[in-house]
Amino acid sequence: MKGGAGLVSGPAFVFPARLVSPSPASQERHVALSPAIELIGITKRFPGVIANDSVNLTVEEGEIHAICGENGAGKSTLMKILYGMQKADEGVMKVNGQEVSFSSPTEAIAQGIGMVHQHFMLADQMSVIENVILGSEPMKSAGRIDFEGAKARLAEVGAAYGLSVNPDDLVDSLEVGERQRVEIIKVLFRGARILILDEPTAVLVPQEVEELFKNLRELKQDGATILFIDHKLEEVLDISDSITVIRKGKTVATVKASDVTAGDLAELMVGSELPSPTTTEAVVGGDVALEVRNLTVLDEDERPAVNDVSVAVHKGEIVGVAGIEGNGQTELINAIIGIDQPASGQITLLGEDITSASVRHRREAGLGLVPQDRHSEGLLLDAPLWENAALGHQTKAPFAKGIWLDRPGARGRTAEIREEFDVRSPGVDVSARALSGGNQQKLIIGREMSAKPEVLIAAHPTRGIDVGAQADVWNDIRAARANGLATLLFSADLEELIGLSDTIVVMFHGRLVATLDPAEIDPRTLGSYMTGAALAETEGAA
Ligand SMILES: Nc1ncnc2c1ncn2[C@@H]1O[C@H](COP(=O)(O)OP(=O)(O)OP(=O)(O)O)[C@@H](O)[C@H]1O
Ligand SMILES: [Mg+2]
Repeated sequence: MKGGAGLVSGPAFVFPARLVSPSPASQERHVALSPAIELIGITKRFPGVIANDSVNLTVEEGEIHAICGENGAGKSTLMKILYGMQKADEGVMKVNGQEVSFSSPTEAIAQGIGMVHQHFMLADQMSVIENVILGSEPMKSAGRIDFEGAKARLAEVGAAYGLSVNPDDLVDSLEVGERQRVEIIKVLFRGARILILDEPTAVLVPQEVEELFKNLRELKQDGATILFIDHKLEEVLDISDSITVIRKGKTVATVKASDVTAGDLAELMVGSELPSPTTTEAVVGGDVALEVRNLTVLDEDERPAVNDVSVAVHKGEIVGVAGIEGNGQTELINAIIGIDQPASGQITLLGEDITSASVRHRREAGLGLVPQDRHSEGLLLDAPLWENAALGHQTKAPFAKGIWLDRPGARGRTAEIREEFDVRSPGVDVSARALSGGNQQKLIIGREMSAKPEVLIAAHPTRGIDVGAQADVWNDIRAARANGLATLLFSADLEELIGLSDTIVVMFHGRLVATLDPAEIDPRTLGSYMTGAALAETEGAA
């Protein structure tokens, strides 16, 4: 078969004829003799789960190949096996036709394989160049790192692949898209010709996604092979040559991107039609549930990270906050939930001034939080699910009886959350670490929603959640809104912001610079408000 990406055998699925039709000539690519990657019958078992159940995957040299599938389907596990982070129980791996077996990422790197993880692994307080060479420092002489040589090579790699970074920048000062570029360069610097990216677009705004895709196309031009995981099907169709769909640990199909629609992919992923979000009318009551007035929060350098921000969220209302990461959203969230003290201004929750109340008091008064970073702020990765379900609510029934922790109560509620929010796990006693990324997120959503908050601060609620489950989460938030929940929604997913919000405010350099009607805005225009471009235009015109 031409182009490599043919159908693999697997559970029977009836393909529409056009799925197997020959691709148009414009799609023809140079085809190497042996595929860059061949995984045959890969099986990986965890206690109570078969993460990969005899998975097959063929990736041709020089193609961009996407891996799609529901949360928990086994995508990350398969990529970690290929990168030597985990060991398969069964199966054969071939790289460029040669059978390989990796017992660590170092061995995979030696074979030209590199991986960029979803949770970036850069050291914030180090410079770009220090991060790039970390762990494989080139030496000039004993004890002396060859920084000049490393910088020269970094410039070469950057020029060769059209990726530019400043070697002396502190990683802490970089925006998310730039950090990701550093992660990619780091992998290329080590000589990778096969790149694995696990959900690279989850944290990016549309403009940054375009930039990333441009870079990936250039890498491909240069002959690199790219494997990536993504839940956003339109993106998958836009960038990839071939797509492999995994369902419940098994390969369902490998198709050419040019032969399928997003609907076909979704159907392959879940085996049935996708749930579509139900639209409910907003029932915005007169009462203000959360009010932030003239709030200023200073950063470490005493500069205003949040600058005189005022916003009110009424009962039954969803206010979306749009903004590129690093424009004060984190500081605003932290001030509202009580982690940071504002320099000035006031926060009221259901009419009560909570500006200097404790986190616990705010929680008990009805404030819910879906945090930005599920790993560092939302979960205790090594604790069992039932303890994680109690986090932040451990002082209340059913998690507590008087001053005591109520284990049976907590386990019972966790089982309910698991059922209702479709958290796929072998039980409530496994650690949060054992859940797939999307299922960790669903656990957090379930924990917060089932506590029936009055006000919800939701930061990227569906980040990493598959398209089917995303519709469910939207339904949950809308149903709660119909019952009066006031939500302050932060999201990098602009479709989500526009689709869910009753009002959108734009945060830029610590200020709220625009209030927009979601019914009258599209993602691109919203994106240009977020980068300040639309503002400059308006000012220029005025
Ligand atoms: N270290 C582990 N210990 C136990 N079970 C695990 C571990 N890692 C993954 N699993 C289980 O293996 C299955 C596949 O997980 P994986 O992370 O590969 O899913 P995924 O397809 O990447 O999902 P997502 O889209 O949510 O990231 C899940 O049931 C998960 O709970
Ligand atoms: Mg994953």
